[in-house]
Amino acid sequence: MTSLHSTALVTGASTGIGAMYAKKLAGRGYHLVLVARDIKRLESLAAELRSDFGVQVDVVRADLTNPQDLYQVEKRLREDPAIGLLVNNAGAANHGSFIDADPDKMETLIDLNVLAVTRLTAAALAGMLARGQGSIINIASVVGLAPEFPLGIYGATKSFVIAMSQALNAELGEKGIYVQAVLPAATRTEIWERAGRDVNALQGVMEVEEMVDAALVGFDRRETVTIPPLHDESLWQAYETARQAMLPHFAQSHAADRYQTK
Ligand SMILES: NC(=O)c1ccc[n+]([C@@H]2O[C@H](COP(=O)([O-])OP(=O)(O)OC[C@H]3O[C@@H](n4cnc5c(N)ncnc54)[C@H](OP(=O)(O)O)[C@@H]3O)[C@@H](O)[C@H]2O)c1
Repeated sequence: MTSLHSTALVTGASTGIGAMYAKKLAGRGYHLVLVARDIKRLESLAAELRSDFGVQVDVVRADLTNPQDLYQVEKRLREDPAIGLLVNNAGAANHGSFIDADPDKMETLIDLNVLAVTRLTAAALAGMLARGQGSIINIASVVGLAPEFPLGIYGATKSFVIAMSQALNAELGEKGIYVQAVLPAATRTEIWERAGRDVNALQGVMEVEEMVDAALVGFDRRETVTIPPLHDESLWQAYETARQAMLPHFAQSHAADRYQTK
């Protein structure tokens, strides 16, 4: 992983997975731009990282569901040529069924988990493509592969992140840009409490440091999709092989026999 002289911009860096990425990237020599709403927490983490690792750390207070705030972060990504890594980590979950969800809250979730990730990626890519190098880490979720989980549209937002990452890798791999989708399962952070759930009531919860360390192994290996909790890697490979086996069969002038009406 190239780190010297490079800056990483990490969204949702005030706590949880994002704060751990900030710490691990500082340990690898990255300078940092930390983004979140809670400026006190960002400043406290920035001071700790400057002192522990001797790296430069800027903080940006932004609510990524607010278009003006989002624009400021996009501007930073477009105008700062030192940024070689974007970690799209900020995200939220809502628990409960689709029909019980408030449509305005669903829109806000899409703004954060989908729209902000998309716009920040576009902003980062402008400079990365011009420089012929750069990396983007998108924090998705195993729920993106498990839409049956009773989490309303959360799984759909994370499916988007997985699909966007795969599309970008296919489009940009040859151009020197690497995009990784990270799919954590339950990880001990505040996201559960924020969504009204008790993380201690769950089985099989991973500690955040182990999750991020594992995800960075996947990053170093240049994996497109990294699933830290999946022990049997052949399951993912079989899933991908089955998906890709379908692709050559989609271009057809006629519907399949089972749908024929004449
Ligand atoms: N923990 C898990 O079990 C788990 C599993 C799979 C995937 N994930 C994904 O991992 C990512 C990080 O989640 P986490 O578990 O670390 O959650 P977390 O502890 O709740 O942290 C979320 C981070 O996002 C920031 N954030 C939330 N809303 C924001 C907004 N509107 N604008 C800007 N920043 C915002 C928060 O900071 P402020 O409140 O200061 O803004 C915080 O830094 C998310 O994308 C999540 O979907 C988590």
